Amino acid sequence: MKKITILDLKAKKARGERITMLTAYSYPFAHFIDESEIDAVLVGDSLGMVELGYESTLPVTMEEMLHHTQAVKRAVRRAFLIGDMPFMSYQTSTEEAVKNACLFMKAGCDAVKLEGGTEVVDKIEAIVKAGVPVLGHIGLTPQRIAQLGGYKVQGKDIKTAQKLLQDAQELERAGVFGIVIECVPYQLTKLITQRCSVITIGIGSGPYCDGQVLVINDLLGITIGHKPKFVKSYANLASQIKEAISQFQKEVKEGSFPDLGHAYSLSDELWQEIKRITDSK
Ligand code: KIV
Repeated sequence: MKKITILDLKAKKARGERITMLTAYSYPFAHFIDESEIDAVLVGDSLGMVELGYESTLPVTMEEMLHHTQAVKRAVRRAFLIGDMPFMSYQTSTEEAVKNACLFMKAGCDAVKLEGGTEVVDKIEAIVKAGVPVLGHIGLTPQRIAQLGGYKVQGKDIKTAQKLLQDAQELERAGVFGIVIECVPYQLTKLITQRCSVITIGIGSGPYCDGQVLVINDLLGITIGHKPKFVKSYANLASQIKEAISQFQKEVKEGSFPDLGHAYSLSDELWQEIKRITDSK
């Protein structure tokens, strides 16, 4: 099984072959994703909301991200692995940004992702200079939710559309190998993809990107709470999970689980011997 590198991703774009990316936060899901030959795995800071139950991604720490990245890394043999830099791991200083990006690489990542446009160009330049490939992230950037005023589509007027195009071009100049474009109208996403030479990965931004990413929990139908319009669930695991748990509950209560087919036994000979010894005491 050949490991996917940054060169393979760039070659896919050059050939017009779509790139697939999914988030993963745990060893089992990362294992199944990697076996399915998905190109890239993102340990997203969506971890905070979909796995840890936080209300936003803001509380997610470097420790939490590295803990889950290490679990994912143990399963990923083939896919390109990207670690998502959490809030406050790159905002405070360039030194902190470079140090934290390097910690993701030490945990086994092939690249890091961070959110923002022109405002984070200095951090991206420094991280790239340290030898760490960077994936940018523009449009709906959940770490700026307070500033954005909610999880809303971005670039819906002339000023914000122009800013998004400028952000993408500046990220490219800063040295990113790709950009995630989240919740941006498809016409604008198409223009950004045409104007930039780096890989564009869309989420909620329509079909005109070089690749697509989804949160694995959404894809599998185990979203808890609000499910955005752009999400397509390819399974409804939530109902299967609930059904399985109810069945277990029912069978234990009525005594049909465990049956002897799910139990260990002793040979008759040994059992008679044990009984003889214990009865004589
Ligand atoms: O954190 C995340 O999962 C992400 C993807 C939605 C791109 O940033």
